[in-house]
Amino acid sequence: MKKNLTMEKLTALCKNRGFIYSGSDIYGGLANTWDYGPLGAELKNNIKREWWKFFVQEDKNSVGMDGGILMNPNVWVASGHVAGFADPLMDCKECKTRHRADHLIERSKQGKGINAEALGEKGMEQFVLEKGVTCPNCGKANWTGIRQFSLMFKTNRGVTEDSSAVVYLRPETAQSQFVNFQNLQRTSRLKIPFGVGQIGKAFRNEITPGNFTFRTIEFDQMEYQLFTTEKESLNDYKNFKKKAMQFYTERLGLNKKELQFKDHAVLCHYAKAAVDAEYNFPFGFGEIGGTHHRGRFDLGNHQEHSGKSMEYVCPITNDKYIPTVIESSHGADRLVLAVLADAYNEEELGKDEKGNVDTRVVLKIKPSIAPYKVAVLPLQKKGLTEKSDEVFAMLSKHFMTTYDDTASIGKRYRRQDEIGTPFCVTVDYETLEDNCVTIRDRDTMKQERIKISDLVKKLCDVCNS
Ligand code: GAP
Repeated sequence: MKKNLTMEKLTALCKNRGFIYSGSDIYGGLANTWDYGPLGAELKNNIKREWWKFFVQEDKNSVGMDGGILMNPNVWVASGHVAGFADPLMDCKECKTRHRADHLIERSKQGKGINAEALGEKGMEQFVLEKGVTCPNCGKANWTGIRQFSLMFKTNRGVTEDSSAVVYLRPETAQSQFVNFQNLQRTSRLKIPFGVGQIGKAFRNEITPGNFTFRTIEFDQMEYQLFTTEKESLNDYKNFKKKAMQFYTERLGLNKKELQFKDHAVLCHYAKAAVDAEYNFPFGFGEIGGTHHRGRFDLGNHQEHSGKSMEYVCPITNDKYIPTVIESSHGADRLVLAVLADAYNEEELGKDEKGNVDTRVVLKIKPSIAPYKVAVLPLQKKGLTEKSDEVFAMLSKHFMTTYDDTASIGKRYRRQDEIGTPFCVTVDYETLEDNCVTIRDRDTMKQERIKISDLVKKLCDVCNS
C-alpha cells in the first residue's frame, strides 16, 4: 500500500478531476452508487477493452457474448441464487443499524486474524454474542441473531405485482454463458476446451458501506467461462489463476508486490475450489477478481431444471458428457480503483522561491489504459490556435486527445500529470516555421522536439504496448 495514499485523497482526486462522482448527488446521493465522469468512463472502458483483448480476442478457442440483464427467474432457482445467495446480517437492538456478521467479527478487536466465514452461521452468531463484539455505530453489544438477507434485487414485469411476475436483476453475468451453452457451442463450432467471455452489469443489494467504489450495488463484471473436461479441470484452474495475475500485472500494469491470492475458506454454493485475487488498497487487501472451479454445478442444474440437454458430444471419441466449468471473474470497478491507487504518486521536485516543497501528484497509469493518451497545449492562444487545432484533429483520429489553452504551461503540465496523461504536446511559434512540436513525457518529465508527422508513430509505439 502506498504510504502517502488514503482513501480520502483518492476519492477527492476522483471527484475533483472528473473520474468518479457520487451517484445522484444533487438529491443527497444513494448509498453505494457512483457515476463515472469523462476520465473514469475512459479508464473503465480501456480496462474492459484490455480484458476483452486478453481473454477473448487473443485466444483462438474463445468467443464473446452479451447477455441480457433480466432472465427467466427459473435461471436463478437452478443456479442456487434464490435459495442461497445471501449475507448473514445482525441488527443492533440499540441503534437499529444492520451489519454483516463476518464484517463485525473481522473488524473487531476480538476477531483479529479470524476468517469469520469459516466459522459458519452458528459459529459467527456465537462469536459475536459470546465475545461481546460491539456495534461500530453506537459501541453497544446488544444483537439480534443472524438472519440471511438475499442479495438479489427483485422487480416485477408487466402490470401485476404478484410472485409470478417477479424478475431479478442478475447478481452475476455468468449465467448467460451457461444457459446459452448449446447455442454458443453450435454456432461457434468450437470444441472443448473452449471459453466464452462477457462484460456487463451485475446488481447486488449490498447494505454495508462500500469503501468508495469497492462495494457498490451495481457494478461491471468481466467474466470468462472455460468449458472443459473434468480430467483437465484442475490444470485449467491453475492456469487461469496464473492468467489472472498476468492480466493484472502485464496488461493493467499493477505492481505485483501489491497483489496476493487468497483461497476461499468456505466455498460458495457452486464452487469446488476458489481463489480470490486481492489488491492492497489503502483500507487493506480487497478482492478484485476470482478463479472458480464451478464443476458441473451450473450446466447440470440447468439441464435438470429446464429439461434441455447440456451435454457435449466429443467429435473424436463420441463421448457424451456435461462439461466442467472454470470461471475467471473480475470486477471492472474494483480494477479501476486498483489502477488509480497503484498509479498514484506524490513526487517532491525541490523547493520554490518561498522555500515551500514543490510536490507533484502524478498518476503513472500504464499508457495503453490511460484515459487520455495525449494533451495538445498551445503555448499561447494568440496565433497558435489554428495550428493546434490541426494537431488535435490529427491525433484525435488515433487517440483520446485533450486540448487545454488555459493557464501557464507549467500548470497545464501538472493538470495532465494528475489525470495520468502520458504525453503533452506543446505547439509554439517555432512550430509555425518548422512543423515541429515539443513532446513531454509524464513520468520522466523529459521534453524533446519532434516533427508533427512523427507524432502518431511515436505515440502508437508507447500506447499500444
Ligand atoms: N460469477 C462469479 C462471481 O460473481 P464474485 O466473487 O461474487 O463471483 C466476482 O464476484 C467479482 O465481481 C469480484 O471479484 C469483484 O471484483 C466484483 N464484485 C462483486 N461484488 C461487488 C460489489 N458489490 N461491488 C463491486 N464489485 C463487486
